[in-house]
Formats: sequence, C-alpha cells, structure tokens
Amino acid sequence: MPDWLITGCSELLTLRGSVPRRGRALAELGLIRDGALLVHGDRITAVGPRRRIERLKEARRAEKLDFGGRVVLPGFVDSHTHLIFPSSRAAEYEQRISGKTYAQIARAGGGIRSTVTNLRRASSSSLRDRARAHLRQFAAHGTTTLEAKSGYGLDWKSELKILDVLHQLHQQQPLDIACTFLGAHVVPPEFRRRPDAYVDLLVKRWIPTVATAGLAEFCDVFCDRGAFTLAQSRRILTAGRACGLVPRIHAEQLAHTGGARLAIELHAASADHLEKVDGGDIRALALSNVVCTLLPGCCFHLGLGHFAPARELIDAGAIVALATDFNPGTSPTLSMPMILSLACAQMRMTPAEAISAATINPAYSLRLHDRAGSLEVGKYADLAAFDVASYREIPYYFGVNLCSLTMKRGAIIHSKKR
Ligand code: NIG
Ligand code: FE
Repeated sequence: MPDWLITGCSELLTLRGSVPRRGRALAELGLIRDGALLVHGDRITAVGPRRRIERLKEARRAEKLDFGGRVVLPGFVDSHTHLIFPSSRAAEYEQRISGKTYAQIARAGGGIRSTVTNLRRASSSSLRDRARAHLRQFAAHGTTTLEAKSGYGLDWKSELKILDVLHQLHQQQPLDIACTFLGAHVVPPEFRRRPDAYVDLLVKRWIPTVATAGLAEFCDVFCDRGAFTLAQSRRILTAGRACGLVPRIHAEQLAHTGGARLAIELHAASADHLEKVDGGDIRALALSNVVCTLLPGCCFHLGLGHFAPARELIDAGAIVALATDFNPGTSPTLSMPMILSLACAQMRMTPAEAISAATINPAYSLRLHDRAGSLEVGKYADLAAFDVASYREIPYYFGVNLCSLTMKRGAIIHSKKR
C-alpha cells in the first residue's frame, strides 16, 4: 500500500475536538480550507493546511492524491444496521402504501417474522454474497465502519449462521464491522405462547455462549409493543452486561415503554429510534453518556410524520448520532448522505450537526473513537470525498450519490470518475 499525500481538499473536515460531541460542540467540524493529509500504511500521520503538510520530509516520498477541490471528511460510521437478511419485503411496502400499518402486517405473520422464516432457509453463502454486495454500496456512499446485528434467525443455528457470516465479512472485505447480538428482536413463532421461556433461553444459554466465544461485542433488545417488555429487556441486557456484552437498545419507537430510562440505568452505549421520548426522558438522556441514535430512514420509509425530537435532544445536551437502520422492513437504505438529508429537512439538524452525528458520535457509541470518526494523527485513514462545493451541500442534495472516493485504512475502496 503506498503512502499518500492527499491534497486538493477545498474543505477538510477533521472532526478533531471533544468526544463525544454535545450541544453546540456538535456543530464543530474542525474545518481546514485547502487542507492536506499524510497517510502511512493504514494510519494518518499528519493533517493540516496544504502548505505545511507539503513541506514535510515524508511528503516527498508519498504518492500524490490530488482531489482537485473536493470536500473531504471522515468515512461515515453507521452504528445501527441489520445487514444480514435474505430478501427484500417489497410486497409489504405495497400493502403499506394501500393502507395497512407496519403493526397490522406484523400481526398477520409478515414483518420481522417473515424475514426470519426466509433467513432460516437461506444458505450462509447466499447471505454472505448479498451482504457483500450491500457493503460495496455502503462504501460507495462514504461509509467506512458499521455496526451489524443478528436477529433474523431467532433459533440458535440461524443466529450463529448470521454471526458467522458477519465475522467472515469482517475478515474478507475492507469495511470494519462491529457485531451486535440481537437474539431479542421479536419472540420467535415457536415460543409465541411462552415468551419468558425464550427470555430464559437467551439469558441462560445463548448470551453467555455468544460472549464466551467472542461472537459479538454488544447485546441489543427490541423493547417495544409487540416485541419485548421493559422487564424482559432489563433481564436480557443485564445478562449480556454480566458477560461483557455492552448494551444497546431499540427504544421508544412504536410506543413509549421506558426503554430510554432503562438504557440510562444500564449504562447502555446507545438508545436507538427514540421517536416517542417525552420531556423527562430527554432531560435524563442529556445527563447521561448514552448515545441517542436517531434513525430517520424508518419514519421516511414507513410514511410516519413523527420523527425523533433531534432538536430538543441536542439543545438539552444529549449525545446524538445518526444511522441508517438498514433493514428490509423499515429502512431499506444504506446511504448515510440520504440519512443526513432527512435529519436536516425533517428533524431540523444543521448540516454540521448531522456530519458530527454521522462520524465522531457513532464512533464513540461503538467504542471505536480512538481509531475512527475523525481525521487526526494516529487514527485510521478512513475518509470520504464528496463532489460538492461545501459540506452544506452533502445533505442539501438528496437522492443522488455525490461521494466520489472512499478510502478505508489507507486503501481506495471506491472511486468514481468525474
Ligand atoms: O430497527 N425495530 C426493530 N427492528 C427493525 C425493523 C426490522 C424489520 O421490520 O425487519 C428496526 O426498525
Ligand atoms: Fe433496528
């Protein structure tokens, strides 16, 4: 791999500064005009104004990569995805367009359970090939690190199949993948009449085995109406934490159930969705270190007007992140730029806030902020270059991919001709 001298960054967004970002600091991008970077191996060795970086001794030996006036920022960190699934649910999409709700479709046997039925039948290789193609698209839209959950298997063999595919992909393709065990996505059909027996199985058998075998770093629960109760979620996440799996939680999406407060109680890394939080939750989250991961792709795709209260969360001082929630039911997008557009237009986040919420804050929520989420000396050379005049244009344009180059650990993994 060559060493790189990267120039031609009309705006270089370094995202240096406080971690995590809260309140006003969320809008601080560490912007350098006419910036440059020096990369050695997979790491950044110098960052600053071009005139200073070009004069460095190491710059002479490095290969030149001149962006010719693009906006360059850290690769996006997508901290909430359900990467491994067997097929789309486009038929349900049509049902919803004609008036059925997500909950009605789920009760009639569609929704998550239909993906579970299909995933159980799918081979590892078909799941891996599908995910690999998706990962190339993530990279093409500027994402360099992502979190991925299990949760469409819900029997031991199938959950293991997903975790195994995730580990293979982490080894075999360039993007870094952080693994989350979501055995508690919904109660599987064979436990429909005895959900607590399923929780017992999770707590006593699967979670300890996943943790001992190092198959995941995080444990997640869908704490909501139609999924797991607050008490069940507490048991599951507490069991995970006792074996070293850091809690994450799907909270306050469809109904207000107390999931956000549970995240605080258990020192979760992240509470995700949060469309239904109330004022008390917002104040409590603002005083905590729980990252509030907002997923506006869901509200957009489901046609719900009620987006999470990003403005109130940020103004109260909560740590806010943005993610795609890439999944076949509620958010079939892998485009972080599209999520930024939704965050700005629908949740009134500024472009600068949205960029911090898509880089440094999600890196913190994945406990990867020592190597990802900002362009600083010692961190991975993970970056995305956009063919725009200013960073404000990244969310401004929507439905079009303006990411022209993505670099992961010093290697170019996506490049578009101008
Ligand atoms: O994050 N909320 C639970 N899980 C997904 C939806 C999954 C599906 O519908 O397949 C979500 O929105
Ligand atoms: Fe999700």
